[in-house]
Amino acid sequence: MKIKKSSTYKKNTINFFNKMANKNHGDSFKHYDNVIKWIKNKNGTELLDIGTGKGDLLEKILLIYPNKNWNLVGIDISEKMIEKAVEKNISAKFKVGDSENLPFKNSSFDIITCINSFHHYENPEKAISEIKRVLRPGGIIILGEIWIPGFFRNIINFFLPFMKTGDYKIYSSDEIRYIFTQQNIIQIDKKNIFPSNCTYLLKKAETK
Ligand SMILES: C[S@@+](CC[C@H](N)C(=O)[O-])C[C@H]1O[C@@H](n2cnc3c(N)ncnc32)[C@H](O)[C@@H]1O
Repeated sequence: MKIKKSSTYKKNTINFFNKMANKNHGDSFKHYDNVIKWIKNKNGTELLDIGTGKGDLLEKILLIYPNKNWNLVGIDISEKMIEKAVEKNISAKFKVGDSENLPFKNSSFDIITCINSFHHYENPEKAISEIKRVLRPGGIIILGEIWIPGFFRNIINFFLPFMKTGDYKIYSSDEIRYIFTQQNIIQIDKKNIFPSNCTYLLKKAETK
């Protein structure tokens, strides 16, 4: 289904998450165990968490793997979320910024995580090209997303442009695989989290 573009998604997202920064939100934590499993063998790694929110995932990574010499960076478009992340005072850098215009040099990271954030991006192709740009060849992406069966997904997607939450589109698993493959990023694993989430493991080709 073609989504009608609106210039207000980003503004709605920022307003919504600035307000949500003081509340508990969502079920992102359901993806964290898959992230923890998929990064188990990494060491001395530069990891960027896009749409990091309050930095909960980075905090968990440091808790589970305290001695892996991480270089962790979290970025989020909501300045209030980043304020909360900084308050955690963990061993990670946090920055306000947009997934569609990442303020990092080419090939800066070995791993990119993006949990329950991608469905807010009004230009997903641009976000993927930015992910690809800042990721090193052979680097991995762990994407955690909402998953809803087709009939209900179509209804929800129809209403998203009228909502104030800044959600742009809920994707099917096939759509996720397709839009990443279009930019030469290949899905190598996927874990369904019953009943409404899916974590994807994707990889940038070794050669550019
Ligand atoms: C549901 S929260 C998930 C937060 C976090 N990943 C977690 O695991 O709890 C989605 C986050 O994505 C951020 N976000 C949405 N659009 C963004 C964009 N274009 N660039 C960067 N962050 C964005 C929101 O501000 C919000 O903090």
